Amino acid sequence: MNVLLTGGTGYIGSHAAVALVELGHQVVLYDNLTNSSEAVVEKLEQVADQRMPFVKGDVRDTKFLIDALGDYSIDAVIHLAGLKAVSDSIKKPVDYYANNVQGTISLLQAMRAQQLKTLVFSSSATVYGHPRYLPLDESHPTCATNPYGRSKLQIEEMLRDVAASDPQSRIVCLRYFNPVGAHEGGLIGEKPNGVPSNLMPFIAQVAAGKRTELSVFGGDYPTPDGTGVRDYIHVMDLAEGHAAALSFLSQNVGWHAINLGKGKGYSVLELVRVFEKASGHQVPYTLVARRAGDVAACYSNPEKAFKLLNWAAKRTVEEMCASTWRLQQSVEIK
Ligand code: UD1
Repeated sequence: MNVLLTGGTGYIGSHAAVALVELGHQVVLYDNLTNSSEAVVEKLEQVADQRMPFVKGDVRDTKFLIDALGDYSIDAVIHLAGLKAVSDSIKKPVDYYANNVQGTISLLQAMRAQQLKTLVFSSSATVYGHPRYLPLDESHPTCATNPYGRSKLQIEEMLRDVAASDPQSRIVCLRYFNPVGAHEGGLIGEKPNGVPSNLMPFIAQVAAGKRTELSVFGGDYPTPDGTGVRDYIHVMDLAEGHAAALSFLSQNVGWHAINLGKGKGYSVLELVRVFEKASGHQVPYTLVARRAGDVAACYSNPEKAFKLLNWAAKRTVEEMCASTWRLQQSVEIK
C-alpha cells in the first residue's frame, strides 16, 4: 500500500514509517518540519534501507496536499501532524485549533478530492479526561481538560461524522497512552529541544549528567509508592499498532476508536529504578508538589486492540529504558 504519513518526520511518524516499510508498504513522509528536522529522512532511509520520499508541506495547504496525494498514488493516510504540548496549548489555543483541527479539515478535503477513504488518526488517551475508573476502555466517557485534549476530541468527533456520512469510510482513531523509547538502532527517536516536559526524556538527561536531578511531581498520590502511575508503551510497539490498524481497515469500514497501551501502570519511581539499572547511572530526584492537571493513575485496557487488530504491546519497560539510553548517548538529532 502507498501510505502518506503527515507528521512523518516526527517522533511517532518516523517510527511508524519504519514499521510500515518492514511490512512492505511504500511510505511518503509529509511534514512542515516545525517540530522535527529533515535530517531524520536520511536516518530513516538508513534504518529502513530504502528510499523514503519526503514532501515538505503544511497539512493546512489543501491544494499542495491534494497534489502530494495524487503524485504518489496514495491509498491511505496516517495523520500524525499536530501540536502536542498541553501547557503550550493553554497559552496558545488558536495555534492548537489551527494546526490540529483546521489541519485535519484540510486533510479531509484533500482526501475527498482524491477519493481517499482510509485514515488512521493519531489520537490520545487525553480524550478520557480524568479517569472515572481504571483501566480505561474505549467506552469510558470522553472529556477534554485543556485545548490540546479538546482539539483531539473535536477531531475524533468530526471523523465519526465523516464515517457516518459515507459507508465506504474506513477510519481508526488510535488513542495513545505514554509512548517512550526509540528504535533499537539508536538513530531515530525523541530528542526534545530545551527542557523536556515529559518524564522519560527528562530521566535520560539526568542519567547523562545534563541535568542535576529529576523533580518528581507529587509523592502523595493514592498509588502504591505515592507517585504518579502511567501506561508507558514502547514507541516501536505503538508504531506496529499503526500498521495493524491499516491492515484492519483493509477488511473493515466505519469509525473505530482503539487504545494503544500496554495495560500496565508504572510509577515515576519504578521507572527511575528501571532506568538506573538499564543505564548504569544514578538518577537523583526530589519529591516536589504535584503538577497542575495531573492525575494519580492512568492506564489502559488494551483488549480491543488485541481483538480487532490482533496487536499487543510486547516490549518490556526495560527495553523502553535501554533504547532511550542508547539514543541519549547517540548522535544529536532533532
Ligand atoms: C503528558 C500530557 C498528555 C500527553 C502526554 C504525551 C500533561 C498534563 N499531560 O502526559 O496530555 O498526551 O504527555 O506523552 O502534560 N513527571 C515527573 N517529573 C517530570 C515529568 C513528569 O514527576 O519532570 C511525572 C508526571 O507527574 C506523571 C508522569 O511523570 O505522573 C508522566 O508524565 P509525562 O511524561 O509528562 O506524561 P503525562 O503527564 O502522562
